[in-house]
Amino acid sequence: MSCCRAPIRRLVASMGALDVALGLGGCARDGPMTTLIARSDLARSILHLYGIITGVAVAIALIVAVVLVWILVRYRGRDAALPSQTRGHTALEIGWTIAPALVLLAIAVPTIQVIFRTQAAPVPAALEIRVLGHQWWWEFRYPSLDVVTANELHVPAGRPVALTLDGPDVIHSFWVPQLGGKRDVVPGRLNRLTFTPDTPGEYRGQCAEFCGLSHANMGLRVVVDAPATFERWIAAQKATPAEPTGPAAEGKAIYARSACVGCHTIRGVSTGSLGPDLTTFGSRRTLAAGMFPSTAATVAAWVKDPIALKPGSKMPALGLTDDQARAVAAYLLSLK
Ligand code: CUA
Repeated sequence: MSCCRAPIRRLVASMGALDVALGLGGCARDGPMTTLIARSDLARSILHLYGIITGVAVAIALIVAVVLVWILVRYRGRDAALPSQTRGHTALEIGWTIAPALVLLAIAVPTIQVIFRTQAAPVPAALEIRVLGHQWWWEFRYPSLDVVTANELHVPAGRPVALTLDGPDVIHSFWVPQLGGKRDVVPGRLNRLTFTPDTPGEYRGQCAEFCGLSHANMGLRVVVDAPATFERWIAAQKATPAEPTGPAAEGKAIYARSACVGCHTIRGVSTGSLGPDLTTFGSRRTLAAGMFPSTAATVAAWVKDPIALKPGSKMPALGLTDDQARAVAAYLLSLK
């Protein structure tokens, strides 16, 4: 047997080291999907609850570890006197029933408070936004402002936002960790999520419910703007894009005579509704639900063959030549 123990020990040790390395690798506090930096009232209350539960769990783990080590040392084999035996000790039994009940109560009270907070009704001054989860992109509609956009949600800092979530195909889940918890997007059912973002910045989000081939590619960004910046953004979204010139004008002509118009809206040009509204496509920083930075090269590659870039994409390749794809990309990027 001894022939095999050393290799097994080495294997166990290296697996343990790998485990620690992978565990620590996931510990970056300020990663884009961190839950440890809260930037809204809702995220703050969830983070506070994490703190309480982690504190209680660490305290219990420490107490158990200290008692365990003490018993191991005190009653180790070489002075193996049998410890005194206890049976039917009423006070002990009541104690170890009440103590865990108190621990559960200490966790349950703040937990229930936060659960109610996550279901809070929106205040009347909240900015209403309708969120639609599609395979595999996000649509954002601002009914009071008459603005529709995709994959990049702009909201003003300091004002409550009331999201109403719904979708036309399968179940998705809207999750922007720094702004709040996950909320399922269920076809035929209106779910709500209400929070007040407090710090301007860009926050990453991700669909958190498996929804098909490109579930992992269903990202989003929430841009929290200072109020004046948000007003400017809204004004830019409502403006009619300038008439394109040069290659972009050629791109517009190709767009207008191809199948693009059946699926996409560009105000004044087309009214399709299956794919994202492209009226201000050029103002977005990313492409294909956050997969790529929006550049002339990535947009042209996307227009030429979307499925090659995003598995399962519902947008088919339209058989454009490289030159045509580049012209369409120039047109789309001119829409700001
Ligand atoms: Cu949508 Cu996963």
